[in-house]
Amino acid sequence: MPVFLVVIEEYFSDVTVLILEYRFLVFLFLCVGFSMAAKDEVRRNKTTLQTILRADHRLILNMVDEKGLLTRREYNNLKSMKGDDEGLINELLDKIMDKGDDTCRAFLELLQTDEEIKNTFPELKKIQWTNTSLLHTPVQASSAEHGDGPSQEKWKPKQYELNSRPTGLCVIMNNENFKDGFGQRRGTDQDAQSLAEVFSWLGFRVLMCKDQTRDQMDQALKCFASLSDLSQLQQFSVQEWSGNRFTDLQEAPKHGDAFICSILSHGEGSGVIGIDGNYLSIKDITGTFKVTDHSTLTGKPKVFLIQGFGGIGGDCSSYLPDTDFLVAHSGQPSYRNTTSGTWFIQSVCRQLREGCSRGEDISIIFRDVIDEVSKKEVPGRPLGPQIPQFGSTLRKALVFSPHRS
Ligand SMILES: *[C@@H]1O[C@H](CO)[C@@H](O)[C@H](O)[C@H]1NC(C)=O
Ligand SMILES: *[C@@H]1O[C@H](CO)[C@@H](O)[C@H](O)[C@H]1NC(C)=O
Repeated sequence: MPVFLVVIEEYFSDVTVLILEYRFLVFLFLCVGFSMAAKDEVRRNKTTLQTILRADHRLILNMVDEKGLLTRREYNNLKSMKGDDEGLINELLDKIMDKGDDTCRAFLELLQTDEEIKNTFPELKKIQWTNTSLLHTPVQASSAEHGDGPSQEKWKPKQYELNSRPTGLCVIMNNENFKDGFGQRRGTDQDAQSLAEVFSWLGFRVLMCKDQTRDQMDQALKCFASLSDLSQLQQFSVQEWSGNRFTDLQEAPKHGDAFICSILSHGEGSGVIGIDGNYLSIKDITGTFKVTDHSTLTGKPKVFLIQGFGGIGGDCSSYLPDTDFLVAHSGQPSYRNTTSGTWFIQSVCRQLREGCSRGEDISIIFRDVIDEVSKKEVPGRPLGPQIPQFGSTLRKALVFSPHRS
């Protein structure tokens, strides 16, 4: 209720209050008309609900969370609650009632319409809801009517949990010195360093393999995907970012709550090449990380940053093997400055630094990358502008936070 009061107050302090809009009337009606009804409904049935829902407190907690009815902290607190199931349900119901009528209405709707809930708690059918008119009321009606008023407070995107320390691994394949006339990719070490700086700032362990052939890249990536046979890693001369430089690997790598992979090489079609000139497709690279049932990366975000000098094509959506992937590539043409690194990776690092400081979701950050790189001027623009691309099957917001190590 306090939220509504503030809103109404603002309206009345404004001269335009005389022109009461239709929308505002609807809003008022919803506030006053439905006010307390849903909350009362929960209160009236609290004891019964407590008995029924304790049958599977985990399910109900997760469903309520999925509906966005709890904050992260509330969810975590409830989840980690010691004691009996009834206590947890009691606490959950109190929380929901505390949150007011909108939340109660959404909760009641969940109980009465969700198939999984109906199946898990068949006894819910026995409850005589006093006020059936509450059902089928659009849950968001009141807040949606009012634009960015109360809704802003309630709408929270689902977000990947990044609680592990370190946050995860960031693996860089950095190809500089090629055989057979492909030449040297000067400036790529600057890219590797910028990536290492930003991802270690975001709490990741950063590992790098330098100058790998196609088969070595393929093998190394398989090794990083499974982390089952760590002795194999030796043959790829893995280095680790530590104390502002790359040194020997410090300890056995482990997966955390997110995985980053960046390939820095020459691009060719829809893939990159090893230093031997052989081709590895992006599809094969990401496909290596398609999770299996027992994978530690299941359900965790996997982000691929592919810099292919000369150019890399193809629609990113065709490189996504599964959910929880984000693939970004440098586009075609793709430019590299021999001292300051590639436009794409440098922009990614800069935008990550700025965007993560503001708590932005990764998709917003990549939009800024596209904006920045595509606006850059090439003298004469012989090949036209560079337009990076990204595609994603992420299911939630992905927000990296600094200083998590
Ligand atoms: C049922 O909800 C309507 C609004 O939909 C409200 O006007 C009415 O007072 C409620 N009835 C009860 C018994 O709570
Ligand atoms: C490459 O980067 C350096 C350092 O930022 C800059 O001074 C130089 O003008 C750049 N070269 C080109 C061709 O853009």
